[in-house]
Formats: sequence, C-alpha cells, structure tokens
Amino acid sequence: MSDLDGLEKDLMTKIDAASSEAALEEVRIASLGKKGAVSERMKTLGKMSADERKQMGPALNGLKARITQAIEARKTTLEAAALDARLATERVDITLPARTSPKGKIHPVSQVTEEVVAIFSAMGFDVAEGPDIEDDFHNFTALNFPADHPARDMHDTFFFEPKQDGERMLLRTHTSPVQIRTMKTQAPPIRIIIPGRTYRCDSDQTHTPMFHQVEGLVIDRQTNMGHLKGTLEAFCKAFFEVDSVKTRFRPHFFPFTEPSAEMDIGYERVGKEIRIGQGADWMEILGCGMVHPNVLKNCGLDPDEFQGFAFGMGIDRLAMLKYGIPDLRDFFAADARWLEHYGFDPLDQPNLATGLSR
Ligand code: PHE
Repeated sequence: MSDLDGLEKDLMTKIDAASSEAALEEVRIASLGKKGAVSERMKTLGKMSADERKQMGPALNGLKARITQAIEARKTTLEAAALDARLATERVDITLPARTSPKGKIHPVSQVTEEVVAIFSAMGFDVAEGPDIEDDFHNFTALNFPADHPARDMHDTFFFEPKQDGERMLLRTHTSPVQIRTMKTQAPPIRIIIPGRTYRCDSDQTHTPMFHQVEGLVIDRQTNMGHLKGTLEAFCKAFFEVDSVKTRFRPHFFPFTEPSAEMDIGYERVGKEIRIGQGADWMEILGCGMVHPNVLKNCGLDPDEFQGFAFGMGIDRLAMLKYGIPDLRDFFAADARWLEHYGFDPLDQPNLATGLSR
C-alpha cells in the first residue's frame, strides 16, 4: 500500500508541476498510457490471488480515477491560462484615438472623381478604364471621324514618332475611345462611366495639356434622349448638392453622336460667389448625344437593334466650378500650400449617404 501511496504522491506532484499542456500529456502517458506506471500495475492484477486482488483491485482503480481527475483538472487550468495569455497579447485598445491630423490632403481632381463615381454607381453604372496611349482607330476612326476631316484638328493631338509600320500612336484626346473598347468586348446592356486622363496641345487659364474627363455610355434596346436628359439632370443635382437645377441642351456637333448637344446649367453670380442651378446666366458643362449608328456598326452592333447615349465632361472644370478654384494650371503645379487650402480630408470618403463634400 505504501508503494501505491508513494506513486500517487509522486504523480500528483508531477501533475501539479506540469507547466504546459505538452508537459501534462507526458505525465499522462507515463502514468495512464499503455506502459504507464498505473497501467503496468493494473496488469499485475491477473496474476494475483483472489484475496490480493480483492484488496488491490479497488485500490488501483481508486488511484487511476484520482490521477485521471487530477490530470483533467490541471488541463482545464492550463487551457484557461493559455487563453488568458493569448487574449492579453491580442488585446486591442479601442479607446486609443485615431490620428487627429493626418498629413496630406486629397487633390480636388481625386475628390471630384470619387464624387462622380459615387453618384453614377448609385444609378447602376460600372467604372471602365482604357489606355492613355491610343491608336488612331480607337481615338478617331471608330468614333466616325472621317479621314483628314478637320474635326481631328479640333483636338490638337499629341502624336508619337511613327512606328516601323508607319502607324502613329497618340495621347488620347478624350475618354471616348473607351466607348469603342467597351462596346467591342461587352454585350449590351452597357452602363459605364470612364474617368481618366486626356491630353491636348493647349495651355491657358482654363486649359492644360493634360486634363481629366469622365465619359458616360449607355447602350440598350430602348434608350432614348429622355433618358440622357434625366440622367444628366439627376447627376447635376447630386453633384452640385442642390434641390433643383436649370439645364438647357443646345444643338452641337460631335462626329460620334447624332443628334449631339452641349448641356448648359443655369447660374448666377452673387458678389464673388457663383450659385449653380439657378439664375439668368448659362454655363456649358458637358457634351453629349445619341451614339451615332456608324459608331455602333464599327463595334459590331446593329443600330436597328441597339441604341444609346454618351456624354463627356471635364473633371477639372467640374472641380473649379464646385469648389471655386480660379486657375486650372494650379491643379498641376504640385504646390503643397495650394493643396493644403483646396484639398480634402483623406478620412472623408465621398458618399451619397453622409454627403459628397464636407
Ligand atoms: N469626347 C467629347 C469631347 O471630348 C465629349 C463627348 C463625349 C461628347 C461623349 C459627346 C458624347 O469633347
């Protein structure tokens, strides 16, 4: 009996001393495992006399039960300690304040692009993109600019040196080539906007050689000019954050739309402030029209089956108007003081629910 008492004491000490689940498992194997001290003793029961067994059986079973229970209890303690330790290392102090004044501002072009994307996304438009370096086909020919037509000169194009095969690549003069790229690869219905950089050889207070446009394209079976007007008016209200806007569509010419129009919005000057949406003066803000049947054909679409509208507007110009920025050239002067003044808080993402601009 004293032998069993000694064994029990020894095992209990080891169980208490086990400082990890792995160490505890070793003690379990050494006691209750197949060749463990307790198991080995259980095996001797078979060779005992009936009397001996009567005494040793319950003693050994009692020992086994107490050891098993002690191991379980120790295991629970160790698990709880391990969890506590993990929780302590993974602790996140959510009471820490966010950085109060982030360095740097969002450029008005990025801000306005985000605003435009937020508005059209809510109307179900996807965003598409295309390359800045284009070929003549996508920038002009497929858009129904006749060869050697003066309309090409309208755009003051930057051309690259001719390639070996004589083809001259160019910097896209508008985002309209992405209309072609989309219609050639995507089946209608199409509803996209295309924000991006565009280039023309021009520079003064309201023109820079690189500027930004956002194009819109909708192609479906029944799309008509009413949809075009409704879409653009809804856009203007949302963008200028006003309850109503006065708009007017003036006939215009673009080779890739028929009929074509320019859209003006009403405004008035009150002191130094320009109020958009009301008043007796008109300001042109975009070009638009119904996609020309030749353009649809150039993209493999049957104009008797599909039709749609397109529009294009200058993002920089929208930014100047909405945020009262007088000179376009400052946009690209990389002047930190200018950005500090006209830039936007990086933590305020434009969205329609909490407001586009704050
Ligand atoms: N691409 C034209 C421009 O740059 C704008 C436009 C786009 C007009 C789509 C009509 C339709 O002036």
